[in-house]
Amino acid sequence: MKKTSILVCVVILSGFAVAFAQKSEPVTFQDFIEGKAAFEDNCMECHSLEWPLKKIATREEWELTLTKMANTGAVLSKKQRVQVLEYLVAKSSYQVKCSVCHGLERSLEKNKEFQAWMETVRRMAAKKPEHLTDEEIQAISGFLRAKGAETKLY
Ligand code: HEC
Ligand code: HEC
Repeated sequence: MKKTSILVCVVILSGFAVAFAQKSEPVTFQDFIEGKAAFEDNCMECHSLEWPLKKIATREEWELTLTKMANTGAVLSKKQRVQVLEYLVAKSSYQVKCSVCHGLERSLEKNKEFQAWMETVRRMAAKKPEHLTDEEIQAISGFLRAKGAETKLY
């Protein structure tokens, strides 16, 4: 009886551990800043940044690209890989979602702090309900904060 309950306990605990491991740490705007730096430091060793900057892709497609680049010889730490992935996913949703009503230059001309971007992006999201998830709002704000004063994507 005792043994079974210990076993049940272990099974439940390891179930939690897996669920916990899958739920990755929350991404902060600092991750986007570091992701951008890692991207610029590591992704133009063999080609310009124009290819990845132009490419609009889903998370799954970016994962495949990063794996392909790693196999070609791109070197990123585990943490950097996550940060670069988040950066590229955010960049893609920005390119898709923020060009629906006006050009991307409208935000590329602006340089705001993260909280100010959150307010702007929330305001934009409200203009087209269901257009952006909370995660996308955060990610796009992080991406725009990381972009800083740069007025061009590529
Ligand atoms: C060691 C050399 C090397 C490094 C470093 C490298 N790449 Fe590449 N990349 C290539 C080569 C070669 C191609 C063209 C052949 C191909 O498409 O696989 C390419 C093509 C691409 C393409 C266009 C093809 C596609 O799959 O969409 C993208 C996007 C890309 N790279 C992104 C990246 C990113 C992001 C990084 C940084 C993590 C990176 N690359 C770092 C060698 C490299
Ligand atoms: C449903 C249409 C729509 C979408 C989608 C949209 N915008 Fe806008 N945006 C507008 C309109 C209309 C204005 C001008 C009026 C205003 O500022 O509210 C504007 C103005 C702006 C401005 C200038 C004003 C300011 O506060 O700095 C920025 C920057 C901006 N948008 C960024 C974005 C970003 C980033 C996204 C994607 C998250 C986005 N927009 C998506 C309609 C949209």
